[in-house]
Amino acid sequence: MPERPYTLLSCAVSIDGYLDDASETRLMLSNQADLDRVDAVRADCDAILIGAATIRNDNPRLLVRAQERRDARLAAGLPASPTKVTLTEHGKLDAGSHFFAADETEKLVYCPSDIVPEARDRLGSVATVVDGGPRVGMGRLSEDLHSRGVGRLMVEGGGTVLTQFLTEDLADELHLVVAPLFVGDSRARRFVDDGRFPFRPDRRAALVDVRRIGDVVLHRYALSERCVD
Ligand SMILES: NC(=O)c1ccc[n+]([C@@H]2O[C@H](COP(=O)([O-])OP(=O)(O)OC[C@H]3O[C@@H](n4cnc5c(N)ncnc54)[C@H](OP(=O)(O)O)[C@@H]3O)[C@@H](O)[C@H]2O)c1
Repeated sequence: MPERPYTLLSCAVSIDGYLDDASETRLMLSNQADLDRVDAVRADCDAILIGAATIRNDNPRLLVRAQERRDARLAAGLPASPTKVTLTEHGKLDAGSHFFAADETEKLVYCPSDIVPEARDRLGSVATVVDGGPRVGMGRLSEDLHSRGVGRLMVEGGGTVLTQFLTEDLADELHLVVAPLFVGDSRARRFVDDGRFPFRPDRRAALVDVRRIGDVVLHRYALSERCVD
């Protein structure tokens, strides 16, 4: 059986299940206390993955923010922040994005074989471009990350990426935060796309924790037997 990292999916949605609104600017769904919780989860991982569209839309830094958490990682012989990972089918990513900033982190970009030369031209100076095969599948990507020493992976979205980890049954845990607002716009990004999900009426996911964090609610689901309370 191929080995893959323990994989934790994390995102925040509106009451009506959207990850964002349809505007150019990022919709803030979490509150400060929850962002701090996410920071702690990040600090506990070896790598964080986001889709290319999230880099283009949100331009996140994807670093551990709290100095004490960065210091604790350094004291443990780890980089201050986990490896950053993304994937792209077309390779149209800006090397000037915060994701690729000259910080202390390793950066990996997975893309299909035919895009590798173009992606290396564009991003080779700021990231390691990995040949993901004819089509980048989450199983192969997960195995490759494991072979690079990633034992614990956090997937922070967006919906396209989350859908693939869920439908391919490659996730061990889901942290779903519900924010107290509606988006109400079908042009906006929903949590997941259509698909055949492993968690259905005859196989329900296990709810392991529900926590109120100010005005948002964190739901923690176990999606595999590897997830322990
Ligand atoms: N609320 C939250 O917690 C949260 C978290 C993260 C993101 N978001 C929001 O989610 C939205 C973006 O979500 P999204 O679903 O549109 O995009 P996404 O999942 O961030 O990225 C999708 C892109 O990733 C690449 N990709 C995905 N699967 C691939 C595969 N199998 N092989 C190769 N490349 C692949 C493609 O990039 P190319 O187009 O470059 O080929 C694809 O267009 C943004 O609005 C963002 O604000 C919200």
